[in-house]
Amino acid sequence: MYSDKVMDHFSNPRNVGEMEVPDAIGEFGSSHCGDTIKVFLKIEDDIIKDIRFKTFGCAAAIASSSMMTEMVRGKTLQEALDLTNEAVAQALDGLPPEKMHCSCLAADGLHKAINDYLQEKK
Ligand code: FES
Repeated sequence: MYSDKVMDHFSNPRNVGEMEVPDAIGEFGSSHCGDTIKVFLKIEDDIIKDIRFKTFGCAAAIASSSMMTEMVRGKTLQEALDLTNEAVAQALDGLPPEKMHCSCLAADGLHKAINDYLQEKK
């Protein structure tokens, strides 16, 4: 049912855990299933220098969260805001259609952290 990449990121998630002094935190809960993600960012000059996550969710949500962190580390905030859940799913060599909403958790948690950070900076 899952690709090798999904199984790899689920079994060995990258960048999992908390961050001691993050510049931004984003928490997001899926209205679809109630699962949640917390994203921690270290930001310098609008670049994501470091990222961690904690996801309470299914295998697809954990694999998507892990892949998302690898895709945006070192990217600008705008590039990270442009990341879609479809791009995360594609990087995992696809998700079953009924699991596509799980990749939203990763993208939406990331976007929430960035948007809150930008809002606070105003
Ligand atoms: Fe909730 Fe996958 S079933 S994120």
